This record gives sequence, structure tokens and C-alpha cells, in this order.
Amino acid sequence: MTTNGLRRAYLDFFKNHAHVEIPSASLLPENDPTTLFTGSGMQPILPYLLGELHPSGKRLVDSQKCFRSQDIEEVGDNCHTTFFEMLGNWSLGDYFKTEQVQWFFLFLTDVVKLNPERLYISCFCGQEDIGIPKDKETASLWQTAFKEKGIDAKIIDFVQRDGIQGGHIFYYDASKNWWSRAGKPENMPVGEPGGPDTEVFWDSAPDREEKHLYDKDNIIFGSFCHPNCECGRFFEIGNNVFMQYIKKDKGFVPLEQKNVDFGGGLERIAAAMIDSPDVFKIDLFDTQREVLERMSGKIYGTDKEETRAFRIILDHMRAVTFLIADGAFPSNKDQGYFTRRFIRRAIRYAGILGISDSFCSTVADAVIETYKEVYPNLKEKKDVIMKELEKEETKFKHTINKGTKKFQELVNSMANTKMLSGIDAFDLYQSYGFPIELTVELAKEHGIGVDVETFTIEKEKHQMLSRKGAQKKFYSGLANHSKQCTKYHTATHLFHAACIRILGPDATQKGSNITEERMRFDFVHFGKVTQEQIKELENLVNAAIVRDYLVSFEIMTTDEAKATGAIGLFEKSYNERVKVYTIGDPNESAVADPLSSTFSREFCGGPHVEHTGELGHFKIIKEESVSAGVRRIKAVLE
Ligand code: ALA
Repeated sequence: MTTNGLRRAYLDFFKNHAHVEIPSASLLPENDPTTLFTGSGMQPILPYLLGELHPSGKRLVDSQKCFRSQDIEEVGDNCHTTFFEMLGNWSLGDYFKTEQVQWFFLFLTDVVKLNPERLYISCFCGQEDIGIPKDKETASLWQTAFKEKGIDAKIIDFVQRDGIQGGHIFYYDASKNWWSRAGKPENMPVGEPGGPDTEVFWDSAPDREEKHLYDKDNIIFGSFCHPNCECGRFFEIGNNVFMQYIKKDKGFVPLEQKNVDFGGGLERIAAAMIDSPDVFKIDLFDTQREVLERMSGKIYGTDKEETRAFRIILDHMRAVTFLIADGAFPSNKDQGYFTRRFIRRAIRYAGILGISDSFCSTVADAVIETYKEVYPNLKEKKDVIMKELEKEETKFKHTINKGTKKFQELVNSMANTKMLSGIDAFDLYQSYGFPIELTVELAKEHGIGVDVETFTIEKEKHQMLSRKGAQKKFYSGLANHSKQCTKYHTATHLFHAACIRILGPDATQKGSNITEERMRFDFVHFGKVTQEQIKELENLVNAAIVRDYLVSFEIMTTDEAKATGAIGLFEKSYNERVKVYTIGDPNESAVADPLSSTFSREFCGGPHVEHTGELGHFKIIKEESVSAGVRRIKAVLE
């Protein structure tokens, strides 16, 4: 069966169980200001999970295009992509756990013909403080399903470092087996629906004992593998969410209807189907991979770094082809910002493969050919996709060319040294926008090294200087710039991001005042901030402190700052240069969530601490009203 056949088989399987097939929604969500992209199948279904009547009834099935820009750093391994198709089936207050477990298991084992011995399951272990019990019902439903295939599936309470222990079904906590758009229960804003989930994993390397498959730097669960291990041996192929609760002021209460929200990774199930631990080996990537192999003269899968580059290009070019078709043209803001960034990143990685000719539109053409039957809008928009890609590629190459010329001059002027100085590397970075990796790559081609250490020192020195210069220009409600005031200032950013996350996008800063003893912060909010929300705000800020995020800044124009999602730009529309502070990874878009790599991005003069871990414990000591729709908190760092 091909992957297109697999998608069809899934839709038909659920249609045979009285589901109505609905089309994929656009990657750019309609009427949803809270998010830039459709990142899961349930996003367009949300109103119906909350009780709205769906025109097609109570059982729906689809394959939804999804884009998760926040996964960009993960791309390059065996199973992560930023664009993917999520197979989805929904019960809107109709069937529940029994049917869902049975059907999905049968689909995997009877239709896709996966070996059930290689399927592993996770279930929710319960959480006392929110009154949600252990999901024993689901665990036992899986056990029955396995039994029907002659497998005695042991149920295990997952304990760190113990590994698989001959089990097939594992209980994990809410960090793994609770699903809502905001993540864990404590991160959910009031009014958000969520529920326990049960995930299915594929063991891509069953002969491996319990050792890790790949040497990943951040294997977080001890020396033995288990379904949620991050080494790449197991990958999640489907998530059954029992969407049955809503968060209220008082805690979690049952939704009016019990829903099933299922999301399955089409590409990952296809990889399991052909028994490949690598999703980039499935047929949907064949033509594009061959184009890249032809253009580069390299073979996919021979060299570790090159394979990573292949994967990044394959992922990014597929994503931008779909994004442009849905209307996200390369630009400096909103969704188009991501299209631009992904194209540019793909071009840089093509450099690693030694591709110097234009390749974007050729690869996009292959993507369109692969998908045109299923997504006819790709074909309809083919001309515009080609044109936009060619334009962007030319533009970016122009920048690179200017820098490369400069690089060449530098190399020519080098007498006998085999090392490009850190100062020169910094000049390429500062004046030509050359990322250091690009300089290192170019230098390598010329058989020379780069003094990366000095480059880093230069970069930091420059940041320090502009920080000092900027301190004179921006005075941000601080009593002074002592260490303690600086800490409170950084805490203000964390709190601001937390407010927007927990109280909603309108809960923006109105004013701030900091002394050595405390911070005071005013923000937009109608009505009292409840005790529970105060707890949530504190917890979120403290989680960000514990995560010990890096704090750094960049100087850019207001337009660029807005495009990076920076908050606090208070009606600044003119194109002046501003400082933007990021708490977390400066290259990622900001999501106030301690699970994401970037917590906050805000327009600000500084100064700030270097790492959030320096702050200590954050505690709100007072909450009061200032004027209509404006609240004030006072908080201390202990
Ligand atoms: N909504 C669930 C997810 O995105 C199925 O994983």
C-alpha cells in the first residue's frame, strides 16, 4: 500500500463505521486570532467539541494538513517534521473509549497490518489535585484488544530508569498523557477543554534490547528505552484524546458531551507500515529526495550531517509549498515570516549538500506532483508557488553572494594562516548577515578554520556595548540598575508573558514600577484575578525560572520586531530600531510555556539578568484594582 492508499484506507475504515469525511481546513486558521497556523486536526473542530452542532453530524473523519513551526529544531532526526498530515476521527458526544480503542487497534493491525507485538501504549495515571482518576478503563480495553491477537499485554506504572520490563501498556503522568491546546492541566487557561489521552507507539527497532537507538544529547529518562523515550526507537503514531473536561474557575468540570479527538501521524504510520525507522524514506518524499540527490551528487543516508541536511530541506520545502498555496507568501510578518525563514534555512542547508544552483522551485514542483490528486489547490496555485520561491531564492542568494565576495577577499588577504579571525567572522555576521555556521562551512571548503571562540566573545562584547548605549535611551520604570532591580525587571517580562498566556491576549502591560524590594505591575483585565489564576501565574513564572532560560536581546526595526511576535510594542508603528529581549531561544517564536524553547519576547531597553535561574522564587503578595479594567499586582522574589 502507498501512503496515499493508507490515507484513503483510514478514511474509508471510519466511513464504514458511520463517519462523514470532511475536507482538510487551510493551514492558516480562519476566525482564530489565538494562533498563526493549524497545528492539529482538532483546531478547526473546537467549537463542535464544545457543543456546537456540526453540519456533518457527530462522527467525523479527515486528514488535516498541519504545521508546527515550533518543532523546527527537532527536524533532522528520524521522525520529526514541521509539516505533516494528521489523520483525525471525532466523536462529538457519540461513541467513547470502547469503540475508539477497538477501532484504532483494528485499523493498525488488520488494515495496515502492523505487528501488534511492536505496538506500545501509554495511558493517564491520574492526578489527585485536579480530581481526575487513573484511566484504568482504557488500559484494560487495550489489554483486551491485545488478548484478541493472542498477546498478554502487561500493564506497568512507568518508573523512571526502569525501562520496558516486558510491558506493553504504561501509565504516565499529565506531562505525557493529558492533552489540551495549552498542554498540561496547570497551563490551561479557564475555558479551555482538555482530557486524558492514550497514545500508541511503534517500536522501530525491536531487536535492540533496551538500549537507546541514537545518541541524542538529551535523553531524559535514564539509561533504558521506553515508549516515551526520545532516542528515536519508539515513535508515537497516534493519540486518542478523551476530550471530556473544561477548566473553570473552580477547577475541572465535565463537558456537556464526552468527545473523542483522535490524531494520527500519517507519515509515521506509513513509516511503520514499510518498517522503516526513518519517516523520510516513505514514498511521499521519494521524488523530492531523488531531485536533491541528482542535484547534489550525494546519496541520502550515507553521511550523518548530510542526511540531516537532506531531511531539513525535504521538510522545509514541503512545508513552504503548502504554506504558499494557502496564502502565506514570504514576508517579514505574520505567517509569511515563517515561509521566508523556512526557505532561507533550506537554502543554507542545500549549501551543505553542495547545491549551488537554484533548487527551490524544482523541489516544490516534485512536491506538487506527489500531492496534486489529494490537494488540488497545489496544482491550481503552482504558478504563484514557483514565482514566489524563485523570487525569494534570488533575493537571499544576493545577500549571500555579497558576503561570499567579502569572504573571498578575506581569504585572499590571508598570508600563511589557516585560520579566519573571530573579528572577521563577526564582521561577516554583522554586516552581511552570515550565520557563523555558514562561515564555518565556507571556510572548511577552503581548507581553513574559524576562530569561533573569539567570534563569540566579539558578539557578546557587541551586545554588552549596545546594552550600555541603550540603557541611556530607555528607562523602563526601574528605581536603579542594581542587581536586585535587574532581577525584578526580568521577572516583569516573565509575568507579562504569563498574564497573556493565562488571562488571555488582552492582558497586556499598562505600567510597571520596580524597587529593590518588590515589583509592581499593572495590566489590562476586567474583574478580579481569582486566587486560582494567581496560583497559576505564580506557577508558570516559577516554572520558567526553574527552566533557567537564557536572556538575550537583538536590535531590529519595529516591523521586524512585530514579525518575531514581540509584545509590548505599544502603538509603535514607525520603523525605528528597537531592542527586543528574548527569554529562551532567540531563533524561535515565543510561547509562554515552560515546555517550549522560548518563553517571552518583548520590546524593552533592558537591563536584564543573563539567565532566569538567577531570580529565585516568585511570589505574588497583593492583587488589587487600579481603575476600570486595570489590575495591579505586587510581587517579590524570595
Ligand atoms: N488533538 C490531539 C493532538 O493533536 C489528537 O495530538
